[in-house]
Parts: sequence; C-alpha cells; structure tokens
Amino acid sequence: MPARCKTAILISGAGTNLQAFIDQANDGRLGLDITVVFSNKPDAYGLIRAVKAGIPTACTEPDKFADRESFDNAIAAELARWQPDLLVLAGFMRILSTGFVARYAGKILNIHPALLPLHPGLNTHQRVLDAGDEWHGSTVHFVTDELDAGPRILQGRLAVDANESADELAARVQSIEHQIYPQAASWVGSGRVEFRDGQTWIDGELCAEPEIKSF
Ligand code: GRF
Repeated sequence: MPARCKTAILISGAGTNLQAFIDQANDGRLGLDITVVFSNKPDAYGLIRAVKAGIPTACTEPDKFADRESFDNAIAAELARWQPDLLVLAGFMRILSTGFVARYAGKILNIHPALLPLHPGLNTHQRVLDAGDEWHGSTVHFVTDELDAGPRILQGRLAVDANESADELAARVQSIEHQIYPQAASWVGSGRVEFRDGQTWIDGELCAEPEIKSF
C-alpha cells in the first residue's frame, strides 16, 4: 500500500462509521485519504456527512440495472475514476458479486456487528440477547465471496448485560465500531495487515484468529 492510502468508503445509510473515519483521517493519524464516498441510496445521510467534510460523493441506484453484475460494473467504473487502494464497506447493504470481489481482492474491508463466526447476517443484537451470549461486539474482516465469512482482522468485544435492550446493545457496539474500524483500516493501509492466500497476515505472521480488543 502507498504512503497515503486512497480510500473509498461505501455506505447505504446513517454513516456513523464513515463519520468516525472522517474525524480520525482529518488529522492524518490514519494514513488514509478518503477520496470518495459512494452510496447506493441517494438519501443516505452519510452522503451529507461527506459533503460537509468536503469529500467527493457518488451515488448509483441498483434499480437502474438489469442484474447484480451490471450494477457492480457500474460501481467499479465509478470507483475507477478515483483509483482507490482500499474499499471500506461501512453499512453498505449490498452483496457484492464474485467479479467485483475478485477485482478488488484483498482490498475490501467490512465491519459486521457480531463476533464472527458467530451471528452472520442481520438482527445480530437481538440474536445475541436471545441466545444469552456472554460476549458481543463487532468484527472487521476482509471481504470474500462468502457473506460475513472473510478472514478476520480485528474484533472489539464487550460483556452483554442480559437486561439491556437490543437498541442499547447496538449503541454500545457501534461506539466500539467507531474505534476499531478506522484502526483496522489504517493497519491495512500501512501494510501492517495483509490479505495473502485468502488469509489475514499481521506483522508478517499468518493469523487464524483476529486481534481482540475488550471494551
Ligand atoms: C454498522 O453497525 C455496521 O456494523 C453494519 O452496518 C452498520 C452501519 O452503521 N455493517 P452506520 O451507517 O455506519 O451508522
């Protein structure tokens, strides 16, 4: 990765994770330059956050395309204008096609609100409470073809309070995300973390298990 890693952030909604990147990238701490924010939804509040921060935005809606592949080709064409080194999916509510993932292999990150491999998919906070889990949190991982199953990089975890609501738990997990996601992305941007042979390498060592931070 180059000294300043050109980073595209893909969103679909509120963009609180995007805001964390904006706040932390501003002072150069992360070594990431956010060059474009892309949304598949024109009313995503994250687009307003980007505009306020003076970051270029792009939006393309999937319903204008015949299938997933053509839409993903349109995203790739848009992103190509910005030549990103890294793609950060931050609440981007789309499954990416195999071709798109291959094109950016090892350069796409996602954050999933659960301690993967536990609870892939949606409604994770309620599922954690229903399962009576002791621990919950969020996982930053490389994106591969398999949904929420790419090699993990960093997890932030917290102890679940059985009396809290799913919304309260979600808020606590989100505040962890705002710390671990920019951190993990900066590790990838600096080359400290690499995707090699379909796995995560940290400081030149193969890591079957992610780094874990307790909050
Ligand atoms: C985050 O909780 C993330 O884990 C999930 O989508 C949510 C996005 O939230 N992938 P925001 O748009 O960054 O506020």
